[in-house]
Amino acid sequence: MASYRIRQYQDKDFDAVRTLFARGMLEHMPAGYRHVLRSARVQLELLVLFVLQALSTDLADVHGTYLRSPHSCFWVAEVGGAVVGMVAVEPPEDPAEREVALELKRMSVSKEHRGWGISGALCGEVLRFTRARGFGAVVLSTSMVQVAAQRLYESQGFRKVGATSPGLLASLLCFQIFRYRCDLPGRAAAPPH
Ligand SMILES: CC(C)(COP(=O)(O)OP(=O)(O)OC[C@H]1O[C@@H](n2cnc3c(N)ncnc32)[C@H](O)[C@@H]1OP(=O)(O)O)[C@@H](O)C(=O)NCCC(=O)NCCS
Repeated sequence: MASYRIRQYQDKDFDAVRTLFARGMLEHMPAGYRHVLRSARVQLELLVLFVLQALSTDLADVHGTYLRSPHSCFWVAEVGGAVVGMVAVEPPEDPAEREVALELKRMSVSKEHRGWGISGALCGEVLRFTRARGFGAVVLSTSMVQVAAQRLYESQGFRKVGATSPGLLASLLCFQIFRYRCDLPGRAAAPPH
């Protein structure tokens, strides 16, 4: 197996990171289609909306969003100088969770480099970063169609702690977002501020 290295995001990675994220998310379209065949168009629109929203918010300014705060970071995995994997961490939106946890986001590995353990290594960076900053857990969300991601997170010690439908439309389609949590042993309930 060829080797890869994980390093912190640099501004030169901007285009590669956005392309990697959009490709990774949009590949779930076929699974989405299968789940609710008659609602395929709506499902597709939900996924496209999610990708567009990410590309126009945090992924429009990766450096500004993730590299300016002590409690957030962004890593890429590199093979032969090309970016083939990515992951981010930042404080969660939920005020109650912000006290005790950081949130893993934007995990993606290019199709050609799956099965190398790259996402496991990226996950490891997030867990180490979170532990080093004194937080007691890592939380994340993934969707019901992202089966490989669910296996990945479960293999890294995450457990499913909730399932919700993001809005009325998703609820009508029975489309669910799963919430996962990985408690970090030996950590206090509240981090230093
Ligand atoms: C999910 C994803 C990041 C996994 O990347 P990867 O580098 O191939 O995963 P790894 O090789 O590090 O494997 C990690 C674990 O997940 C499991 N896994 C990975 N892909 C799997 C699949 N398709 N089916 C079942 N298990 C899978 C592996 O067996 C491994 O478990 P182990 O450590 O117990 O052996 C990748 O499939 C991806 O980028 N998907 C598209 C984007 C996406 O869905 N991101 C998640 C956003 S929440």
